[in-house]
Amino acid sequence: MAKTTIGKVLFTREQIEQRAKEIAAEIDKDYEGEDLILLGTLKGSVPWLVDIMKYMKNDFKLDFISASSYGSSTSSSGVVKIKFDPDINMYNSHILVVEDIVDSGNTLKYLMNKLADRGPKSVKVCTMLNKESRRTADFHADYVGFEVEDLFVVGYGLDYDQRLRGLPYISYLEEEDVEAL
Ligand code: IMP
Ligand code: MG
Repeated sequence: MAKTTIGKVLFTREQIEQRAKEIAAEIDKDYEGEDLILLGTLKGSVPWLVDIMKYMKNDFKLDFISASSYGSSTSSSGVVKIKFDPDINMYNSHILVVEDIVDSGNTLKYLMNKLADRGPKSVKVCTMLNKESRRTADFHADYVGFEVEDLFVVGYGLDYDQRLRGLPYISYLEEEDVEAL
């Protein structure tokens, strides 16, 4: 792998945790008294999901799903594959998909349609980051941590070719590295 240069810190751990706390309170309020399944998307959503979980006061069920439209490059292939599908019963429960980042929106649009077939009461999305400027699919996220500009972001679960997920903040790859891919 070519050497990569990481840019400035876009969001610190403290900023992300604070935002997760605010969103967790909204989720608690919105789903009060309802059966809720948090469905984390593997693998990038894990740190954000943990933050949301630890600040939620209501009880919920937890599971994971893995869908991918990415190879090792930094732009969407447009072809979505489900790589891991949980066997949890979604019938009559509310599903909240917890995602790391929505870019083109292809992955989530596909996933939302698939999940809707399983008879849930509702399916919504809580994403840590949203790149609205890159949206091509007709998809809207219900809870958004932060809007981010058109950069290839890494850290706090987000990877570049499976690396850099462990950075304790969100940064981005410098332009020359992205172009060299
Ligand atoms: P979409 O289908 O184009 O919305 O792509 C969504 C998925 O692509 C996300 O869940 C991420 O896994 C990955 N992705 C999109 N943009 C970035 C980025 O800037 N950094 C790291 N992964 C990204
Ligand atoms: Mg993802």
